[in-house]
Amino acid sequence: TTMDWDEGAAEKGDYKHFMLKEMFEQPDAIRNAIRGRLDFDMGTAVLSGLEFSPRDSALISRVLVVGCGTSMHAGMVGEYAFEEMAGIPAEVEQAAEFRYRNPIITPHDLVVAISQSGETADTLAAVREAKHKGATVAGICNVVGSTIARETGRGVYLHAGPEIGVASTKAFTCQVSVMLMMALKIARTRRMPRHEGEEMCRWIERLPELVEKVLEQNDAIKAVAEKYAKCENAFFIGRGYLFPVALEGALKLKEISYVHAEGYHAAELKHGPIALLQENTPVVALLNDIPGKDKTLGNAEECKARNAPVIAVVSEGDEEIADEFNDVIVIPNCPPSITPIPTVVALQLLSYHIAAARGCEIDQPRNLAKSVTVE
Ligand code: G6P
Repeated sequence: TTMDWDEGAAEKGDYKHFMLKEMFEQPDAIRNAIRGRLDFDMGTAVLSGLEFSPRDSALISRVLVVGCGTSMHAGMVGEYAFEEMAGIPAEVEQAAEFRYRNPIITPHDLVVAISQSGETADTLAAVREAKHKGATVAGICNVVGSTIARETGRGVYLHAGPEIGVASTKAFTCQVSVMLMMALKIARTRRMPRHEGEEMCRWIERLPELVEKVLEQNDAIKAVAEKYAKCENAFFIGRGYLFPVALEGALKLKEISYVHAEGYHAAELKHGPIALLQENTPVVALLNDIPGKDKTLGNAEECKARNAPVIAVVSEGDEEIADEFNDVIVIPNCPPSITPIPTVVALQLLSYHIAAARGCEIDQPRNLAKSVTVE
């Protein structure tokens, strides 16, 4: 394992942990990730490092996203965006699974390798396999000049700045921002009209402000965290664009607080995990106003009926949904594709404060490394 940034080069400043600092840096990190990349006139994204002409983009018939850990979760959000915005079939696959299962690649496939460090062994091997099979391969990396960035030879840098905390935070929100811009760019070479592209540009431009609104709730989220800090098990449920966010929320909690947490598709809970629910097993239900909300609401009510405390994450204006549950976290209104970013920030803060209340290490959790360069 290696550290990809020199810890001495980054300072914690007034923050107690790098993770806390990096969560609060997210508005600026996203600003840097989108700077100069939105073309409002054409309603598209300018991602010159991709080196795609409109014709190259029009010829893509499928997008395969590969990555590990948090980066894979960002890829899952990308999968929804490529399909919904660009109408292009998309899949995301754990990089090790991709490299070893002899994947079927056709000449018009675009393989996107997503990695904060650009050094993850399995993701790098997936890049090599995809290149070997003749795919167009692009990287989404944070570390400039990293191996994956070099070997893909084309892609998009996050410009998120050094991420020191082992639990990835600002890299994730910047990865998703870049995925949205990539989906927009491809969408505009297909059926997405210019005015819709322009509208999407406006929402992407507003991401830093949406994240700020969540960061302003830090104290309220801390109070919720302290209430549940003693739990040993937790569930996170969501659908659609918020399904990957449920997985990422559970991963954050596991990584830094050592609480056993599982992210589940809200519809899957009844197929087993619901048997584990009891009064000391909180369920974080992602009830933002996106398609499927009413179904997830039904699932959250089922949890409540099993005496599990429900922490409801809702859209602004939907506070009445929360009245029936124990705790509420309010996320600003935004379209479905935009919701993962402000929502995950709330879950990052929740995990951070649970870990802090449990006296955990946070920046250097046991058994984990920032960059995994071995299999
Ligand atoms: C490690 C880190 C995770 C990270 C994953 C992928 O497991 O602890 O935070 O998501 O590797 O890293 P990458 O650098 O490829 O994004």
